[in-house]
Amino acid sequence: MASGSGTHILALPFPLQGHINPMLQLCKTLITKGIRVTLVTTVFISSSLQIQASTTSNLINIETIPDAATTTSEGDVYQVFINNFKETITQGLPRLIEKHKQSSYPAKAIVYDSVLPWTLDIAHQLGLKGAVLFTQPCTVCSIFYHMKQGTLKIPNEDEGSDIMLPAMPPLKLKDLPSLIYDIGAYTALFNLLIDQFSTYRDADWRLFNTFDKLEDEILKWITSEGPILTIGPTIPPLHTDDIEYGLSLFKPDAEAYLKWLETKENGSVVYVSFGSLVTPGEKQMEEIARGLVESNCFFLWVVRASEESKLPPDFVLEKGLIVNWCSQLQVLAHPAVGCFVTHCGWNSTLEALSFGVPMVAMAQWTDQTTTAKLIADVWQIGVRTKADENDFVTREEIAGSVREIMQEERGNEIRRNASKWKQLAKEAVSEGGSSHKNITEFVIQLSGS
Ligand code: UDX
Repeated sequence: MASGSGTHILALPFPLQGHINPMLQLCKTLITKGIRVTLVTTVFISSSLQIQASTTSNLINIETIPDAATTTSEGDVYQVFINNFKETITQGLPRLIEKHKQSSYPAKAIVYDSVLPWTLDIAHQLGLKGAVLFTQPCTVCSIFYHMKQGTLKIPNEDEGSDIMLPAMPPLKLKDLPSLIYDIGAYTALFNLLIDQFSTYRDADWRLFNTFDKLEDEILKWITSEGPILTIGPTIPPLHTDDIEYGLSLFKPDAEAYLKWLETKENGSVVYVSFGSLVTPGEKQMEEIARGLVESNCFFLWVVRASEESKLPPDFVLEKGLIVNWCSQLQVLAHPAVGCFVTHCGWNSTLEALSFGVPMVAMAQWTDQTTTAKLIADVWQIGVRTKADENDFVTREEIAGSVREIMQEERGNEIRRNASKWKQLAKEAVSEGGSSHKNITEFVIQLSGS
């Protein structure tokens, strides 16, 4: 019998694709262990969510909170989004919890995204326990933790000296999350990431979407600040029978691209995607386009509808295919795919790692710059593109990086490392593996709480 039978929990993801996916997969894994899950979001967000072909996601009960009437339009676009989401949830979540208390399945706990730390206070006030889920690498979270504690000293850009932090490799300035060395217009996002730790010590569980061997040293260090549970990688086919996460804010193109992949030889296609948020400038888009052509490889490139107008007008797709959105899991699992040009979003990175696909790490911002460092220098499962002082990457650099993986000797070494990490990721979530044990332990504790 499933160990968590009957226990009901709520789950509150931050409403961006890169945060919804790991939360959703955790929920589905918990469902397979007998936990009853209600995913909470706003009416506005739920109207954009598409249900994908998936088995266990059908078992998730979704409950919506009406959007707050007192929304604000003050501040930058991120500040407005963050404030309005917080306003809606702080008004609606207590009512939802109270309503559940009257039902036959009152919720015992809430799993919430680490960028919504104030959720813990609401939960505790109403007698629920709180589990915080970190959806970025533990290395990145630890860097923000040091920022919050004031133990990270930022050198001048031209100093070029190493930044030494406990349990981390020596880091250069541009290996830090970009918001630390180039906050630009993103003060709201910077504060969101720093504030993740405002209720860290009071959380009943701290869950990280990573696995023991992947970030071993830093995980040991963070454990010295309080116990944690690693539960990753939260990639659907590793945990459940699903080929999709289950809910998407984007509608995938018709599946012609999968048929196109079928016509290609194993390992011959470069898959290119920059996730759900990144918006490269027009000049950078042109360099990516020209670089892919110059590499002379087949390529499948996700260009979101909002970015399409940035493609060069004379761009001819002889060996390439462009889609607005795809099933990335199915693409990465396809044997035709030989490398992934990625912005190094944490989900994309864990997905490529779990399917053993080597990466060209072309980080754009936030946590991605640190993840690129890990991909290239620590795990050695990809190459990192070199950028100029304005973070611009040339077509020659892109083509050269792709060829390094697809055609040169270094590519063989990277592929061997990628197979090793694929195996280790699988072991972590398999019976007896570290993440598997931690999820089982979490279910036992939830059921007993
Ligand atoms: C954001 C941040 O940018 C990222 O750095 C952070 O780690 C998580 O939140 P995003 O930029 O969207 O996420 O990147 P990523 O984490 O890679 O998540 C994108 C998700 O969308 C992946 O799970 C990927 O499989 C999915 N995806 C992407 C698709 O399903 N289809 C696509 O065509 C492209």
